[in-house]
Order: sequence, then structure tokens, then C-alpha cells
Amino acid sequence: MCGITGIVTQNSDNIGELLVRCSSKLTYRGYDSVGVAAVRNGAVDLRKDVGTIEEVNELLGLSSMKGDRGIAQLRWATYGAPTKMNAQPHFGCEEVFYGAHNGNLHNYVEYKKELIETGHIVRSENDGELCVHAVDKYYEQTGDMFEAVRLSIQDLKGAFAYAVGRADEQEIYAVKMGSSLVAGVADNATIVSSDLPSVLPLTNNVIYLADGEMLVLTPHDVKVYRIEDGKQLERVPQISYVDARAAEKGGYPHFMLKEINEQPKVAQDVLGILESSKNEEWLKLIENASRHYLVACGSSYNASIVGTYYFNRLAGIPMLHAIGGQFQPMYGTTMDEDSLSILVSQSGETKDILNVLNLINAKHYGKTLGVLNVIGSTLMFQADSHIPMACGYEVSVPATKTYFSQSIIFAYLAAKLGERNGHIDSSEAKIFINQLRNDLPSLTQTTIDRTGILAKNLARTMMDVKDLYCLGYGFTDGVAREGALKIKEICYNHCEGMYSSEFKHGPLSIVTKNYPVIFTTTTEDSWMVINHINEVKARHGRTIVVGEFEKTLEPYVANKHDYLEVPKSDVLINPLLDVIPLQLLSYFLSVDIGINPDLPRNLSKTLTVD
Ligand code: M6R
Repeated sequence: MCGITGIVTQNSDNIGELLVRCSSKLTYRGYDSVGVAAVRNGAVDLRKDVGTIEEVNELLGLSSMKGDRGIAQLRWATYGAPTKMNAQPHFGCEEVFYGAHNGNLHNYVEYKKELIETGHIVRSENDGELCVHAVDKYYEQTGDMFEAVRLSIQDLKGAFAYAVGRADEQEIYAVKMGSSLVAGVADNATIVSSDLPSVLPLTNNVIYLADGEMLVLTPHDVKVYRIEDGKQLERVPQISYVDARAAEKGGYPHFMLKEINEQPKVAQDVLGILESSKNEEWLKLIENASRHYLVACGSSYNASIVGTYYFNRLAGIPMLHAIGGQFQPMYGTTMDEDSLSILVSQSGETKDILNVLNLINAKHYGKTLGVLNVIGSTLMFQADSHIPMACGYEVSVPATKTYFSQSIIFAYLAAKLGERNGHIDSSEAKIFINQLRNDLPSLTQTTIDRTGILAKNLARTMMDVKDLYCLGYGFTDGVAREGALKIKEICYNHCEGMYSSEFKHGPLSIVTKNYPVIFTTTTEDSWMVINHINEVKARHGRTIVVGEFEKTLEPYVANKHDYLEVPKSDVLINPLLDVIPLQLLSYFLSVDIGINPDLPRNLSKTLTVD
């Protein structure tokens, strides 16, 4: 949540254009409000308002702002409503210090009170403002910007990163204390940002920071220091090979549709990674543990549910799964040094997951294996080992290709482990792995092609639906939850995802004539799912089916498009494909309703807050 970008240039006077160009790549992190502080001849021009970067730019002419340094912020509201006053950047007491943060200050209430009591003029209800005041406070005591920034940290509790400057100083300072931060060094300019996509338009010479470090940006270089004692640290920029064009829509109307269509390639790429020599390390980590936990949030959690079925079926390994925030209260006293926690996170920055990682590391609760997409994320640096999802940028707020990649990773690992520990027949494992490798990319493409039109037509019939269920059984448990999450997230409908045999234990009472219930199934479970379908049909509900075509299921759908039919494949491939029509259905429904699926209201792609 929230994205900050700070740039210092040598000769140019076009800081507004640079900040807008770079920070617009962070739109997925926040789009409640936007602001830019640009410094020219020792004066700060601060413009901010509610809206997306395009809207605020049009309103306030952000890209025409002059100056040679400045800070931009895209906000996802937590402390304080999304208003102009709460938009970032903020000034300190006077229009001298300017800065913006990402993250949360837990001592916001007490610290704000303390600042006001000591004469600070705090204007907003946003915790980011307090970072600027903290620097202001220590500058008053030391008269030195470096020391003021360094000492400010002792007043600020929470997980955050911020960038700050002073009108009469050419440098921009930034600190990393639990939220992501990356810097870049270009010719005659430097940049600091919450995430790589906004650095790449300027340079691919990148420096990753660790918590407890601070930066000083001049037009020529970026210096890194340890906050604790102010000692300078050796950091050489590394070349990032991430293609900046990956963060473009590439002709698609939305990133979401582009990312759904990238899934055949994702299947190919992630299987390439899984077949690399690194896989021995990942398999050993799992084999050497006596207890296994799968921890994730949102879509990553839904993929983890699918994973538990693969690990059980193919490898005979019970995986205890938990939502990030549940992990400590649910399993916190049962772990030991032989445990393995698989932490699954697209961003690698989700606070609920980093809390778990910190807990495990602090208490020596065994090893950690990250499954992540963002290279350079905190999870990547701090987990004992990590598996990259190989998806490239996922820009759209709703996860699609990363969920898909996660499910493939679990299916593959489970098959490999099963082959090694003899839980399944070696030839069975080999056949499945070959199917993943050889057939999955093209089956994925066929699923997109075949179900795209059906999903589009189905969406048109669901424009007035405000409430529905999406049910799964066995392997499609996580798939149904994921479909429901997509519909909730980007269509603003209430859609509950649950286990289909549970539906009769209460929720069935909601069904009246034409009440829609989506059933996802594999071919091996359809005999059971038919019972659950009948329970809805008997109450005159509308049943929609997602799965391979089966004669026995056909009578239960009223229209062709109520059967989102995926291509014929192995029963263990079914759960991987079944999610795709649900992604497409939610996409088309969202667009038909008039929502931008890439930027659903109230949400942010990366949730770095508790
Ligand atoms: O980056 P992560 O995988 O840790 O993110 C977890 C969730 O915030 C994320 O999957 C969220 O639920 C998606 N927007 C769902 O589409």
C-alpha cells in the first residue's frame, strides 16, 4: 500500500514530468490520492488531491512542475480518510521540510499528541505527516539533516519507509524500517522508490535496501548508511534485467486481461524454474522437515489450499495451512526447529506474512521457504530459500497469473516428492510431470480461448446479480474460493466461496428462484458435486458449472454459457485450469458493470500494513 518516489537530478528542471512518469508505475499500490512536492530555487511547490495519478495530474498539472528534486506519493488510505489534507507529501511545521511515507506508525496517537504539546503544527490525520515532523524536531536540536533523519527513527514505531527533504538542501533522504525501498542510479539523476517498476523508467542500476538502513540521494550517487550508528555501508548498484515494458498494457484494455492471457507462458516459465538445479534444495527443505505449514493471504492463500490437496494426494505430506494473521494464534505453540513454513506471497512484502517470518526467525521455529514473485522483496532476502513464481510484473490489483503459478509450483513439488518418497508410483509421477511440462501451456491457452466467449456471455446475464456463491469440492476447494474472491474484489458483489458439501449446513436457505450458485469440479468429484447441485436445483436455484464437459452435468445448466467448459485433461490438471473461466467471468462482469478491474476501490496490490 502507498508508493513513494523521490528523485534528485543534476541539470534538469522537469522534476514534475519525471516524478509523474516514474510514480505512475506504482498506481497498483495506491490510488486514493496523489501528491508531488517539487523543489526549485529553495522553495517547495506542493500539490496534492484526491484521485488517481491521471486525475490529479490533469487537475493540478503535476507533470509541468519545475524543479530539480522532489517527492511523489500515491496513497492507499489507512490513517485518515482519503482527503486532500491527508494526501501526501506533507510539510513539517513550515514549508521547509517535505516528505512522504509508506506503511503505518503504531504510535500515531501518542506521538501526534506529544508533537502538538511541544508546539508542532500537525495539520492532517495521516501518520505520514509525523515522519516529517520527527525530522523537523531533530533538525531543530542538531542543525544537521543526516542526524535529524537518523534520530527521527527512535520516535517512530511501526513498519514504514519514508523519503524526506529540506527546501534549502539538494539531497533527499530515505529510510527503510519494515516497508520496501529500492534506489536507482542514472546518469545525472538518482531515484528512491517503494518498488522497482518506478525506478526502471529512469535506470536499471538498482540498489536494494535492508531494514534499518537509510539513503542519501544526490544527483550523482546514492549512499547507504546503517541507521543505528550512522556508519556508511558498501553498496554497488546491480543491473536489473526486468523488462520495463512488462509494466505496460501491451494493447490490452486492462492489465488484468493481459495477465490472464500471459498464463500459458507463465506455465512454461515456472516449470522451467522448477526443473532447474535449484529444485533439489527446495525438495530437501520439505523432506527434512517434520511438520509443514503453508502460510499466505488472499489469492496466495487460495492457491495454498489447492496446494494442500496436491501434497496430500501426491506426496502424502499433511500441510497445515493458515492465513497470515491466523498463523501465530493457530499454530504458534506447536512449532519447533524441525518445522518448515512455506510463506507464499506475490509481493513478498505483505505485512501479515512478514510478521510470520519475523516470528519464526525470532523464535527459531525452523526453516522458511518463500514462494514469491517480486525479486528483491523482503521475503526473498529473509527466507532461508525461495522459489520464484516467474510471472514478471503483475500490475493489476486482482491476482491472476501469480495464483496460477503458485498452484503449478505446489502440483509440481508434490509430484516430485511423491516420486521420491514412494507415496505414488514413480511412473504415475513422471506422467503427471510430463503433462505439466508438455501439455499445460497449450491446455491453458485452449481454456482461455474456449471459455473467454462463454464467460463474456455469462457475465452479460449476471449484471443484476448482487449476491451469489461459488462452491468447490476436493481439489477445487481453493479454486472456488479464488473465483469468489475475484468476483467480490472487482465486481463489488457479495460472493462467498465455500466447500460444496457444507452448503446444505446453513447457506442453502438463501436459495430462491434463480439464485445463482457456481459449482467448480474435477471429473473425479462430479458424482458427488451432482448431489450438491441437486440440492440447489430442487429449490429452483440457477446452477452454473465450471469444469470439463460431462454428460451427467449437462442437464443441470439452463444455457450453454452456464457451463464454463474447460478442455479435457488429466483429473489432476483440472484444478489448475478451472480457475481461468472464473478469472474471465469476473473480468467481463467487472467491465460490464463499469468498474476498472485493475484498480478496484478501497484496495491496494501490496498490503504492507497490519
Ligand atoms: O502479495 P501477496 O500475495 O502476499 O498478496 C496477498 C493478497 O493481498 C492478494 O492475493 C489479494 O488478495 C489479491 N488482490 C487478490 O486478487
